[in-house]
Amino acid sequence: MLDLFSEEKDDDYKPTITETELSDDEVLVELKKIKEELKDKVVVLGHHYQQDDVIEFADITGDSLQLAREAAKLDKEYIIFCGVHFMAETADMLTKPSVKVILPDLKAGCSMADMARRSEIDRAWNFITKSTKKKVVPVTYINCAASLKAFVGDNGGSICTSSNAEKVISWALTQGEKLLFFPDQHLGRNTCFKMGILLSDMVIYNPNMLNGGVTAEQIDNAKVILWYGFCSVHQGFTKDQVFAIKKKDPEIQVIVHPECPFDVVQAADDAGSTSYIIEKIEKSAAGSKFAVGTEINLVNRLATQFPDKTIVSLSPYQCLCTTMYRVRPRWLLASFRAIKDNMPINVISVPADIASSSMKALDRMLAIK
Ligand code: 13P
Ligand code: SF4
Repeated sequence: MLDLFSEEKDDDYKPTITETELSDDEVLVELKKIKEELKDKVVVLGHHYQQDDVIEFADITGDSLQLAREAAKLDKEYIIFCGVHFMAETADMLTKPSVKVILPDLKAGCSMADMARRSEIDRAWNFITKSTKKKVVPVTYINCAASLKAFVGDNGGSICTSSNAEKVISWALTQGEKLLFFPDQHLGRNTCFKMGILLSDMVIYNPNMLNGGVTAEQIDNAKVILWYGFCSVHQGFTKDQVFAIKKKDPEIQVIVHPECPFDVVQAADDAGSTSYIIEKIEKSAAGSKFAVGTEINLVNRLATQFPDKTIVSLSPYQCLCTTMYRVRPRWLLASFRAIKDNMPINVISVPADIASSSMKALDRMLAIK
């Protein structure tokens, strides 16, 4: 994984918990006890894509925007962040230096975030700004390493999440004439199209090709430059799945995450962030039917929570975010035990210079209402 900022102890202290030491059920029992014991010191945040056995121990659950906002308000000694690496980094930057943020498994990354590296962005920026005299404003999806947030902070841009992408992009287009959006092409394309920007005014910059695979003229003519990145979980949904499920049941409403490809979002009835999807299902009448295009842990949880509604995955295949899934209850227990022993492990700590540049972009995002 790229740009990992974490402190690992270099001594022998490794409070891992093997299956022979504790069974999965015993881990859950131990977790209940230790969480109660450390409740004054530790708060657990859980993203909606976490498995149920982890969500059960979360004090606060939410989508990436909600969790960032909540983290900024917290003043406990420790935050155990049950999510992925960029979320824990964001929480570290938004909290006071005295608050330690822990990611239960350091390998819980995000494949989309890894599709844009700082060196690639620097190269792209150099080419883009040489190709046009018009002002380009960079906006990054929060799913990226802190070093990319720092780039955006230092170049007058903002961060966005899937909940506020439209507002942030509207703001960005008041600050300049063009938008560079990374790393998720789909969120960028879906949001800009919804805002009335034509597909013909968008170009793709592919960091794996010379000059991104675009000419200086194409850059100069485009309104929006989309980075060639995607979420491997959401990119798997197809418009044929939408047509097939609608053919089987014309009453079913298809709702998808905006990280899905453009044609899927166009074919669906609705699209929105994880919290938007949850709210829409919560507010629907008993008997409503939904086919949901997002991560399977959330879809299954909604199906259990609302037995009076039909909630199924849009895809017949398992749409699991395997990196989110790395946060297992036994690693959560290991994180608690290490805190109890005053030897915290997997502490995420963003270097001060990167954090201060990133904070400019995070503050701009949080100020956009
Ligand atoms: P949300 O912003 O909807 O929480 O999405 C985060 C994410 O990683 C989706 O894949
Ligand atoms: Fe990243 Fe996709 Fe997993 Fe979200 S679902 S954390 S974008 S890999």
